[in-house]
Amino acid sequence: MTATMNLPTRVKIIDVGPRDGLQNEKQPVPAAAKIELVHRLQDAGLKEIEVTSYVSPKWVPQMADNAEVMAGIQRQPGVRFSVLTPNLKGFEAALAGQPDEIVVFGAASEAFSQKNINCSIAESIERFAPVVEAARAQGIAVRGAMSCTVGCPYEGDIAPEKVAYLAGLMKGIGVQRVDVADTIGVGTPRKVRAAIEAALRHYGIDDISGHFHDTYGQALANTLAALELGVWNFQSSVAGLGGCPYAKGATGNVATEDVVFMLRGMGIDTGIDLDKLIDAGVFISQQLGREPNSRVSKAVRLKRAG
Ligand code: HMG
Ligand code: MG
Repeated sequence: MTATMNLPTRVKIIDVGPRDGLQNEKQPVPAAAKIELVHRLQDAGLKEIEVTSYVSPKWVPQMADNAEVMAGIQRQPGVRFSVLTPNLKGFEAALAGQPDEIVVFGAASEAFSQKNINCSIAESIERFAPVVEAARAQGIAVRGAMSCTVGCPYEGDIAPEKVAYLAGLMKGIGVQRVDVADTIGVGTPRKVRAAIEAALRHYGIDDISGHFHDTYGQALANTLAALELGVWNFQSSVAGLGGCPYAKGATGNVATEDVVFMLRGMGIDTGIDLDKLIDAGVFISQQLGREPNSRVSKAVRLKRAG
């Protein structure tokens, strides 16, 4: 049996551009532009959108308009909206926006946990536990982002055992599904596979998503490696927006346009209209005063220009 026998027939993409993408922008982006981006993403057929985060505005000023953005979205039925909540304070603030899913975010690396959320891995789990409990009691789904699952800007290579350890802790507090994130994009297919296999010790394949930053141009290859393991949930950013403010040098997530093009070419359904997606990417890139960071976007637009 070849590895391709495992390939899923459909893939669900969470566009994290409004959150992971924009959080790293130094220039202020008006809430109205963020709302318009979310609307364009749902018009393009995205069924899951990570909209914003309820974190300290001193740490991430760009997300300070979280309430305004959530309140301004006209939701289409069947679309899920998620937000990041690092602690109970964030969760309580998030409730007014009625998120479908909240995301607690931890790291497989101690040093990154300290830099990103100012506490150890063990302390982060203590903070997340009441958040998860409160969310689930209210019928809100809970996802756990796991940063630095292959490499860390401070600790270097991360052993799969650390990913398994974190996944086990997340499972223990009731997190329903997890993201295997390559925060700084240093992963290559075998390493990413090992990280996913580590997460698989605690979560089923349906409850694991791939979240690959494209800093070193490896994200599509890593996506294929994950697909071959049967992973069918992925996170990406329209126009390749983004980076993490606490991972110096890390560029954006893999562009949603590039993932959709690859999957379409492989006969794997995403339900996403590539042309509308490209236009959404152009819209937000114009707001930021630059070109979309997506090869597919560029190629399609050149072709359109004839
Ligand atoms: P802390 O300083 O340890 O928290 O920060 P604290 O409880 O000691 O509170 C300090 C101050 O923050 C207080 O305000 C709190 O009220 C306030 P002050 O009295 O000084 O005026 N505060 C909050 N304000 C708003 N919302 C909150 C909140 N909590 C406390 N929820 C904290 C801890 C987690 C808040 C802080 O470290 C933080 O905000 N970090 C930002 C982390 C972040 O957003 N990182 C980027 C997202 S993660 C990511 O991008 C990776 C991912 O994409 C996956 C991948 O690629 O790896 C998900
Ligand atoms: Mg990220």
